[in-house]
Amino acid sequence: MARVTVLEAIQRSTEFLAKKGVDSPRLQAELLLAHLLKMPRMKLYLSFERGLAAGEVDALRELVKRRGQREPLQHIVGSTCFCGLEIAVGPQVLVPRPETELLAERGWRFLNEVAARGGRSPSALDFGTGSGCLAIALASKCATAEVCAVDVSAEALELARENAERLGVAGRIRFVQGDGFGALAAAERFDLVISNPPYIPSAEIGTLQPEVRDYDPRGALDGGADGLDYGRRLAAESASFLKPGGRLMLEFGDGQAEALRAIFQQQKWIVEAMVEDYTHRPRFLVAARTE
Ligand SMILES: C[S@@+](CC[C@H](N)C(=O)[O-])C[C@H]1O[C@@H](n2cnc3c(N)ncnc32)[C@H](O)[C@@H]1O
Repeated sequence: MARVTVLEAIQRSTEFLAKKGVDSPRLQAELLLAHLLKMPRMKLYLSFERGLAAGEVDALRELVKRRGQREPLQHIVGSTCFCGLEIAVGPQVLVPRPETELLAERGWRFLNEVAARGGRSPSALDFGTGSGCLAIALASKCATAEVCAVDVSAEALELARENAERLGVAGRIRFVQGDGFGALAAAERFDLVISNPPYIPSAEIGTLQPEVRDYDPRGALDGGADGLDYGRRLAAESASFLKPGGRLMLEFGDGQAEALRAIFQQQKWIVEAMVEDYTHRPRFLVAARTE
């Protein structure tokens, strides 16, 4: 069989992925090959003429086939980058999204302010931690933060703990399995409650792209009939878990900002900010208590 070069392998894989309806097929093909050859993607550009060994061609074909079946790239390579941290992912957790990085950053900035003002360790609760990405980012970027990470899924928590251990912050994160605030002692208080909860309306899940619909856990997506079940729950239940001066930061879905503003105002919150994501859509709110 004729020798296949890096460039040819990229071109063939790109064609195949495009036919399967995968977004950005060339980028995806390059990322899969870079993963296989254990080299940074940009280094492929210096290796276009390199011949692939038969074993490498077979292995690439297998990876590209999986991606063509719409398995997320992050599941195939086993991890994603979140706030500069390598977070392992798998079928038991939602793949962390770039827009959630903005929520994380707002969170750690707030915790660093609390630490600077109060001269003490700030505390945070991550409601629905999944892979642990938010809890780990807070603990990594605020050196004294103590974080409690809750999830209803034991499998997700196991992976979150492994991520925290590998990234050296497990000592400041307490992992708790259970149903939201019900898993915590009533007397617990935090400076920050942060959450990226399930927020897709149940009937919309079937319309999502296959990478999300078929591979993210349903329990990480389904926000009830209007997608606002968790927003309502956080508005009603989180206030008594906040320290004076504390903040709630909550991610939400497209078109949910105004409904959530009304829900929070009804429950005696001041909505301080509706923060937009990279596509200029409102993506998370920052709220404080009026009393
Ligand atoms: C959208 S995912 C977010 C994961 C991660 N925080 C992120 O931003 O990528 C929501 C998470 O909430 C968890 N969850 C759903 N219902 C819950 C509940 N009642 N109590 C605690 N966690 C819950 C799910 O298991 C899932 O891991």
